[in-house]
Amino acid sequence: MSETLDSGLQAKVEQSVALLKEALREYGAVTFANSLGAEDVVITDLICRHVPDIEIFSLDTGRLPEETLRLLSAIESRYETKIKVYFPESASVEKYVNEYGINAFYESQELRKACCHMRKVEPLQRALAGKKAWITGIRREQAVTRDDVAHSQWDAANGLQKINPLADWSEKEVWAYIRARDIPYNELHDQHYPSIGCAPCTRAISMGEDVRAGRWWWEDPEAKECGLHAASVTPLRFKP
Ligand code: ADX
Ligand code: SF4
Repeated sequence: MSETLDSGLQAKVEQSVALLKEALREYGAVTFANSLGAEDVVITDLICRHVPDIEIFSLDTGRLPEETLRLLSAIESRYETKIKVYFPESASVEKYVNEYGINAFYESQELRKACCHMRKVEPLQRALAGKKAWITGIRREQAVTRDDVAHSQWDAANGLQKINPLADWSEKEVWAYIRARDIPYNELHDQHYPSIGCAPCTRAISMGEDVRAGRWWWEDPEAKECGLHAASVTPLRFKP
């Protein structure tokens, strides 16, 4: 069932679509990093409806929940599109696991970051090679590490522009859009998982907990980034 959007949300949708179109026009080689999270199914819908020339990719870390992989397939069917999937280098995974253990990321922040680097950051670098800009679903509201996210900013760590079309959307708006357009979403969201990453590093949250409280819950909130979104980014607005 498709519902109409209220005028505030409609205005945000138009702004996000304008950003996506502008990104394609200005940078040409632009790609969307799709984690299949709630924000990313919204962006997928916006791209497939309004800017289908933007490519979409996903990083399969090898430790994703089954529900996320099912959703990947459901999204491809719904939009009759292909999501390009990148995997970690098998030699790196073998080396890490045999040296440190299959779940060594619980042992120290160093081993956790090394795992994220091998399973996410290195494949991301391959996905971004040759691109001029990438699109992500990060929102300011999500975390203390994200409160200065801009719609468009220079990503110094990866050497290209980063576009965050939902930077100023609220969680409520994300869900209003998903419901209005009846977009397939991760069934784990209905089991108190607002933010979903790899299965061993994601858990359900309790009432009143922060939306990212279930990600790397054993670590300090200030450190809860996997390296996809380095802090060293310079805000830059599109030309009017
Ligand atoms: S994370 O850094 O903590 O893992 P989060 O799950 O909040 O990130 O997702 C933020 C954005 O990073 C997503 O909207 C998406 O653009 C990108 N991203 C995260 N994980 C992936 C993934 N597995 N594949 C592709 N993009 C991803
Ligand atoms: Fe490894 Fe956990 Fe990072 Fe996934 S989220 S790459 S399992 S440390």
